[in-house]
Amino acid sequence: MATATDDTTLTEGLTAFIEEWKDRPGNLIMILHKVQEEYGYVPRAIAFEVARILDVPLAKIYGVVTFYHFFKLEKPGDHNLQVCMGTACYLKGAADLITELETLLGIGVGGTTPDGKFSIEAVRCVGCCGLAPVMVVGEEVYGKLTTDKLPEVLAKYNNG
Ligand code: FES
Repeated sequence: MATATDDTTLTEGLTAFIEEWKDRPGNLIMILHKVQEEYGYVPRAIAFEVARILDVPLAKIYGVVTFYHFFKLEKPGDHNLQVCMGTACYLKGAADLITELETLLGIGVGGTTPDGKFSIEAVRCVGCCGLAPVMVVGEEVYGKLTTDKLPEVLAKYNNG
């Protein structure tokens, strides 16, 4: 996923996409998907631009964004900690992992640390239930994870 560096201007790709979808039914969701693909979340300035171009109220855009849990309103951290909350992981204590991460980082699920380094996300089954409980960070999969291993995992990213 390519992430735009400037969260206040429409990228060329996005402008072209909006042009293409502007008059089609169901365009708002498609466009918001594209926004999140470009920026990693739905930045306020961009939501505003989309509202202006499509001539829809900003409230309608936020209505859609908050209704579908898929959309993020806050910029994810450099390292998004995705804790699997699928059944297998849940049964093996994934909720404890989340609670511990919240304590260690001082943020909740969906939040980002003030330095922008970490965010926590609860995700559905990531497909390696045999390793439950699992946390995914970028390309890295941490299986059979326990709360006492979490500081070590975080330290790895803190120094990198
Ligand atoms: S339930 Fe977590 S990997 Fe399947």
